Amino acid sequence: MAENLIIGAGDKAEKYATLLPQIASLVGHETDLIANMANVAACLKMTFGFWWVGFYRVSGEELVLAPFQGPLACTRIKRGRGVCGTAWQRGETLVVEDVDRFPGHIACSSASRSEIVVPLFAKGEVIAVLDIDSERTAAFDDTDREWLEKIAALLSAPEI
Ligand code: SME
Repeated sequence: MAENLIIGAGDKAEKYATLLPQIASLVGHETDLIANMANVAACLKMTFGFWWVGFYRVSGEELVLAPFQGPLACTRIKRGRGVCGTAWQRGETLVVEDVDRFPGHIACSSASRSEIVVPLFAKGEVIAVLDIDSERTAAFDDTDREWLEKIAALLSAPEI
């Protein structure tokens, strides 16, 4: 298993392109979802220095906090609430350029200005979300969406 993370030079697309095969290798050798979430959160934090990066897992009608890197966070989020609960309900990635303009945004940290939430699937159902927060507005765009969906797919179970 890789112990050293190689961080790509250049723009964020190049950084994601360097990161993706390393994550594929890491999670491809481990079946425990929590362990894989922990390493993916660490890889994203180390590569991009995001303010907060982590996961929430679906548990009944709530999301429950899972491995993350960054400040303390809310532990439970109801389906349809906040950016995370809305991404879960819709089953799609949400990019929020300015969290103050997202009705119902849950402010775990007052420093958070923009956010992206990407669902993880198993058998067509959302099983968790990957949530990343930035202290800058409009920090996330279609490049992040594209690559983070690929990363999320590596953690998702096959559609069987
Ligand atoms: N802001 C999120 C809550 C989770 S924290 O950002 C870590 C939301 O609105 O769902």
